[in-house]
Amino acid sequence: MKKATLSICRDFTVGEVDPRIFGSFIEHLGRAVYGGIYEPGHPDADEQGFRKDVLALVRELNVPVIRYPGGNFVSGYRWEDGVGPVESRPRRAELAWRTIEPNLIGTNEFVDWSRKAGADVMMAVNLGSRGMDEARALVEYCNFPAGTQWSDLRKQHGWPEPHHVKLWCLGNEMDGPWQIGHKTADEYGRLACEAGKAMKWADPSIELVACGSSNRSMPTFASWEATVLEHTYETVDHISLHTYYGNREHDTANFLARSLDMDVFIQSVIAICDYVQAKKRGKKQINLSFDEWNVWYHSNEQDGKIEPWSIAPPQLEDVYNFEDALLVGSLLLSLLRRADRVKIACLAQLVNVIAPIMTENGGKSWRQTIYYPFLHASLYGRGTVLQTRVRSPLYDSRDFTDVPYLDALAIQNDADSLTVFAVNRDLQEPMTVDCDLRSFGACQVTGHTVLNHADLKAANTADQPRAVVPHEAGKAWIDGDTLRLVLDAHSWNVIRLQKSR
Ligand code: AHR
Repeated sequence: MKKATLSICRDFTVGEVDPRIFGSFIEHLGRAVYGGIYEPGHPDADEQGFRKDVLALVRELNVPVIRYPGGNFVSGYRWEDGVGPVESRPRRAELAWRTIEPNLIGTNEFVDWSRKAGADVMMAVNLGSRGMDEARALVEYCNFPAGTQWSDLRKQHGWPEPHHVKLWCLGNEMDGPWQIGHKTADEYGRLACEAGKAMKWADPSIELVACGSSNRSMPTFASWEATVLEHTYETVDHISLHTYYGNREHDTANFLARSLDMDVFIQSVIAICDYVQAKKRGKKQINLSFDEWNVWYHSNEQDGKIEPWSIAPPQLEDVYNFEDALLVGSLLLSLLRRADRVKIACLAQLVNVIAPIMTENGGKSWRQTIYYPFLHASLYGRGTVLQTRVRSPLYDSRDFTDVPYLDALAIQNDADSLTVFAVNRDLQEPMTVDCDLRSFGACQVTGHTVLNHADLKAANTADQPRAVVPHEAGKAWIDGDTLRLVLDAHSWNVIRLQKSR
């Protein structure tokens, strides 16, 4: 059996977890909105047509913020199409995903849905096909109390109170040639600066996220961030990061190491933010909004076969397996490990589209494998992240060297409780882990949740929704001042500790 150790001390902290790190994302794409969160004919629909079974699953995840309405969709979106009497809203050819958008759900309905889900909205504005004026009008429509054209229009539409949307994305993936209204870094940086200024003049309490690169392999990565931040440093609060991982080669050891790529991505963007701050002799620290992250590859081939121009076709419907859940667990640890700088993150997405929650039109809803690590991190990953020194045997894989078999992080939830998250990446053997708890005083183990499955490719489906579910029979105990763990091969673990009284 391999052996590893964890060193933690209650005085050595990384920072407070911003709860918005457990955000998610709903785009007008595939069956996320129509057939996902909204299905008026469904037996479980509420008076607004929202599926109550889906709302219950979203509420269970305790998601504090949900990005909307895209994604690539937002870069061609006219927000005015989605407000006012539903019967007069236009049907549009939606160019990003080549579907028909019926505009039955728009800004106001989504704000209502998010409230029901217990979340705030993170609103994206269109800086692809549109610009500053439409963006600042949307802020006024959403957040101005009354007495102006746009705020009075909201009231006339039936929403007398302002929505108080706090977080705003200045466009989406504007560095990508696939984006409607793709721009160079200078073009986008100037536009984001001016749009952001006007939006903050309309409501000075909002926070703004500038678009970073669409992923770390973009040819303009790093110089894009530097240029955009040089234009927008005074105006924005966060810069975005997006990434998706896959296991097309069926090389699980390499796949599970991909969180190391996320670590490097985060570190690189922090360095760029700090470079621009230094160059500006600025006081303001720019933080990170990792507002799209997940596994995404299972559905790629199927999506190529979908005929264009239908309403809500089944796009990006990845069926997640057990190994995907392990990587999602490690990706959550990578985000939390830099909780000092990653203030927002959105699991992309939430329902049906590369999502932890799946539905059948007119039928059931269920939890995919990746639902569980996200749920556990959202429930037990709040508080203060502790510097967690991992000493673990290492392995090399196709793309990575010195990959620790053990990925782990400790979080002090409050004065009396502590949670240790751990992934054993070893595909063959269990591992023993010791963790010195002297600085915490006497503790007891109150739970050890494990997600594991003999078949790395096992998945939950409508017919077998509980094929992969967590159990509470993990092996964790206190031995003097030491927490001792035995982690099963390829397992996700959540160990909860409480101070003894
Ligand atoms: O989440 C799916 C898509 O991935 C989003 O629309 C886009 O921003 C990204 O490329």
